[in-house]
Amino acid sequence: MNKMSRAQPVGTRSVDQITGGRRLRRMRKAPWSRRLVQENRLTVDDLIWPIFVVDGRNVREPIGAMPGVFRVSPDLAAKDAELAAKLGIPAVAIFPKVDIALRDQTGSHILDPQNIINRATTAIKRAVPEIGIITDAALDPFTDHGHDGILREGVIVNDETVERVAAAAVLQAAAGADVIAPSDMMDGRIGAIRDALDGNGFHDVPVMSYATKFASAFYGPYRDAIGTAGLLRGDKKTYYIDPANTDEAVREAEQDLLEGADMLIVKPGLPYLDIVQRLKDEFGMPTFAYQVSGEYSMIKAAGANGWIDGERVMMESLLAFKRAGCDGILTYFAMEAAELLKG
Ligand code: PBG
Repeated sequence: MNKMSRAQPVGTRSVDQITGGRRLRRMRKAPWSRRLVQENRLTVDDLIWPIFVVDGRNVREPIGAMPGVFRVSPDLAAKDAELAAKLGIPAVAIFPKVDIALRDQTGSHILDPQNIINRATTAIKRAVPEIGIITDAALDPFTDHGHDGILREGVIVNDETVERVAAAAVLQAAAGADVIAPSDMMDGRIGAIRDALDGNGFHDVPVMSYATKFASAFYGPYRDAIGTAGLLRGDKKTYYIDPANTDEAVREAEQDLLEGADMLIVKPGLPYLDIVQRLKDEFGMPTFAYQVSGEYSMIKAAGANGWIDGERVMMESLLAFKRAGCDGILTYFAMEAAELLKG
């Protein structure tokens, strides 16, 4: 804004008359002043890295629908977690791809202490004790129909599922999980998991609730990643929240907090920033967003096509979560973002 920019008005008033002399661009004029007034910042402390695990040794399989994301065996998961810790990433979240032969109607393999999620957890804990390990106590990787609950006569049965998920949470904690994060949206699961953890000596293990999980189409690539894409019959609308609703999301979060949730997750992320902001304002609890697979893949695909600057869009999307009030973000970009933040 120089003197030359103070042009003669086209209309009746000059810009100074219109703005009352207030010029909001003043503070944007130079890098130093922009840095001074920057309100939100992304740091490596905000990042949680979801890792897909699969049986075997020395396995690293690319996931078609998620360029740059791999399924890894427990030994390599431990190596990856070590790299994450070196970059300063506070925690990883583990999601298993379970052998199809081990899946059944009720997801019973989730109760095997030696299942892939538990073995990967132990491997990571042994190799990198300083990184936080978050496990998902949900049935969908273990059921042969891809639902997050036990399916009987076309109905996802709530209470029986809750019992199973609570038992699985105890096994996950025993395997070394630092945080239990149930993503299934059954009623009463938070309280049941809290009870089960306390009853088994895991008083110190917090519960991070996927309190507001929406029946979203953004999960597509994830289902490819864990091999449920072809299996899922119907949809998840009887247990996930309708994407049209926000009051209901607040009620869900409130209920989970009453049952003992220590942290809240909003999922998906970017399309649901209004929910993040509302939950943070309403409850003031540690609030996280999950930038899900579809969000990741869309940015990756457009970036690969040269339609957007993928790296800048990645960082802008992560910063948007901070602006909305997130304490952290579960994101497949965690490693890339951490590298950029370091450099
Ligand atoms: C289900 C679960 C989902 C994701 C993780 N666990 C949703 C689903 O498949 O319905 C999605 C994660 C992503 O899309 O990145 N318990």
